[in-house]
Amino acid sequence: MDKIRIRGGKRLKGVIPISGAKNAALPLMAASLLSAQTLRLGNLPHLADISTLARLLAEHGVEIFMDGDAPGGGHFGRVLALTARKITSTTAPYDLVRRMRASVLVLGPLVAREGIARVSLPGGCAIGNRPVDLHLKGLQQLGAVVDVQSGYIEAKAPKGGLRGAHIVFPFVSVGATENLMMAAALAKGETVLSNAAREPEVTDLARCLIAMGARIDGLGTDTLTIQGSDTLGAAIHNVIPDRIETGTYAMAAAITGGDVELTGVDLSNIEAMVEKMREAGIKITPTERGLRVARGRARIKGVDMMTEPYPGFPTDLQAQMMVLMSVAGGASMITETIFENRFMHVPELGRMGANINVHGASAMVRGVPALTGAEVMATDLRASVSLVLAGLVAKGETVINRVYHLDRGYERLEEKLAACGADIERIKD
Ligand code: UD1
Repeated sequence: MDKIRIRGGKRLKGVIPISGAKNAALPLMAASLLSAQTLRLGNLPHLADISTLARLLAEHGVEIFMDGDAPGGGHFGRVLALTARKITSTTAPYDLVRRMRASVLVLGPLVAREGIARVSLPGGCAIGNRPVDLHLKGLQQLGAVVDVQSGYIEAKAPKGGLRGAHIVFPFVSVGATENLMMAAALAKGETVLSNAAREPEVTDLARCLIAMGARIDGLGTDTLTIQGSDTLGAAIHNVIPDRIETGTYAMAAAITGGDVELTGVDLSNIEAMVEKMREAGIKITPTERGLRVARGRARIKGVDMMTEPYPGFPTDLQAQMMVLMSVAGGASMITETIFENRFMHVPELGRMGANINVHGASAMVRGVPALTGAEVMATDLRASVSLVLAGLVAKGETVINRVYHLDRGYERLEEKLAACGADIERIKD
């Protein structure tokens, strides 16, 4: 397995282009199952998770072509043309689903279009239990009969197809909102999703579905109203920039006392993160191409932070923020409200000299003057990148094992950081 070696202490200086959002790209690709016509997606990031979903969609009969530059000119990531002329299989096998939880996003589209789907349960995951009960209850409310047997979800639509319903989520779920919005787009009549997720990736999916002919109101709010259609058509859509990648590199610039411009970002999607970083004393200024992040020599200030559904501070930036706080002047209380087991980076950061105590869902971080390099283990995607940030600022050498987690969510990470002066390299196995 590949490793990443970092020699810390270099201030990052330069420009980092931000890629398309993984978490927007995955549901958008699943949406191709809803139409017999071609969905062209631009600005797709080049990531392991995208390839995993492409393999799963191919299994269902989707024809996929890499298709040159993005519509509108210029090169904005990869373009994929996805055509689900005919669904050849309604089974999503364990071997592909287990690699990535987001595979469950094929469930709604398959039941809506074919009336039947058999999707492996995604199973446990390093960052908590993560059940899919809201996805299944929602489908039942749309009229589907849902069974879980031998590790597979089996869902069947009633005769005449799924029917619109009023679904009230007991708490916010990004994936359940996306799955049910896609299913409702091909159901009979009106569906209302209350307490829906407002994440920008959900809104991006809604925009793409509208481009395919769906009728959806309430974009960006917690109530989405969908008028079902008999069929959906072709569309061209560009994936939004990755706000988590943006936040991660902003924190990399800040922690190293650097000065970095992040290009191609969407400022409106990262307000909670920008606000917290400014509170911590980091200078963030909009530029013509995106965002400039600079710290200079001033010490980072300790600030408290709590993760929340959008527009709150994203759970996917919690680990990175914790690293920033671990070298701040003063203390910081970080509370995780979305996932029950998302502090796995804490023991690894401890091995690098961080002073962090976890009490239930909160972590008390007492800033230390410096971290020291160590050999550490990546446990999940965002925890892994937090170790990269720690390595960038630590004294001496840090070696991160199991970097396949990073490849799931960060495109050309070493290249982007090295271009700004980081001493980072991948050690191939
Ligand atoms: C998505 C993101 C992930 C991010 C998360 C929260 C993708 C591919 N992944 O994950 O990076 O960290 O949103 O912003 O977009 N839950 C249930 N039952 C369900 C569904 C969820 O109990 O049926 C719980 C989860 O265990 C978790 C919480 O609800 O505690 C939120 O999860 P959810 O918003 O669904 O996350 P994902 O869509 O899986």
